[in-house]
Amino acid sequence: MTDLQLNAAGRLRHFLTVRGLPKAVLSGILDAAEDFTAGGAGKILRGKTVVNLFFEASTRTRTTFEIAARRLGAEVINLDGNRLSTNKGESILDTVRTLEAMNTDILVLRDFASGAPHLIARHAAPGLHIINAGDGRHAHPTQAMLDMFTIRRRKGGFDRLRIAVVGDILHSRVARSLIGAARILGAAEVRVIAPLTLLPTGIENMGVTAFTDMRRGLAGVDVIIMLRLQMERMEGQLVPSPQEYFRRYGLTEDKLGWAAADVMIMHPGPINRGLEIASSVADGSHSVILNQVTNGIAVRMAVMAELAQAASESAP
Ligand code: NCD
Repeated sequence: MTDLQLNAAGRLRHFLTVRGLPKAVLSGILDAAEDFTAGGAGKILRGKTVVNLFFEASTRTRTTFEIAARRLGAEVINLDGNRLSTNKGESILDTVRTLEAMNTDILVLRDFASGAPHLIARHAAPGLHIINAGDGRHAHPTQAMLDMFTIRRRKGGFDRLRIAVVGDILHSRVARSLIGAARILGAAEVRVIAPLTLLPTGIENMGVTAFTDMRRGLAGVDVIIMLRLQMERMEGQLVPSPQEYFRRYGLTEDKLGWAAADVMIMHPGPINRGLEIASSVADGSHSVILNQVTNGIAVRMAVMAELAQAASESAP
């Protein structure tokens, strides 16, 4: 995987997953995002074309990629995957060949199929860089990086932090990428909290501690990341009634009392108020949910700038 993502100089060529990437690459993205937040920009992508190709709905991810690309001076094209010729039987690789023929430099892809961005990256022409904006339940690396960026800005670093990820871990590409990034960046402890039916088997192999009880799982944590129940990916009934789920796993002010006093509350969105999180917590003083959205711009600028700079430095 690493060789698919990194060029000969160890710089990022595609951003498909955080798995296997060195800590320095992830820290470099966070540092660059810090510079962009401080106002640095420069039209690093002037003359470049960024195509946003989304086969699944998205508000935050698609829009913040677009804002980020424009701030860097790129031309941005938004393609709704569901209106493309792939629906007329054209393969996704044919669609990509067509985008290459239009001189696309960066393809931001969201696909319901796990592994689609990797497949495309393996067949992409050298000048085309792929960013995975979420593939099935597999990975969502820029979301993980914006989450880590939001945490680092608030907490200063990772090595003392206890992070809990709560909810539908089974279907969550956000959880997988986040756990990976937190481990690589050196978080002290990562916990997952969910009913057994929403915990993937073997999750402990990712270096996390699993809990089914909120009180035990939240005890003393510094960061709580809530996840949406992803009904569209569920086969059969994996949770009891919504009321029962909220009673046991919904984040309320009462349950917040189990965590550290200065705990920060995160959620990648879209949020279901009253299902996984109470409105008073989502909108409360511990919540950084909207900061996450804002930080998505700087982090996505950082990733695209890195792809462009790595390419220009390795050009013959
Ligand atoms: C997430 C996604 O699409 O994976 N949202 C996002 O990118 N902001 C999480 C979700 O859909 O629940």
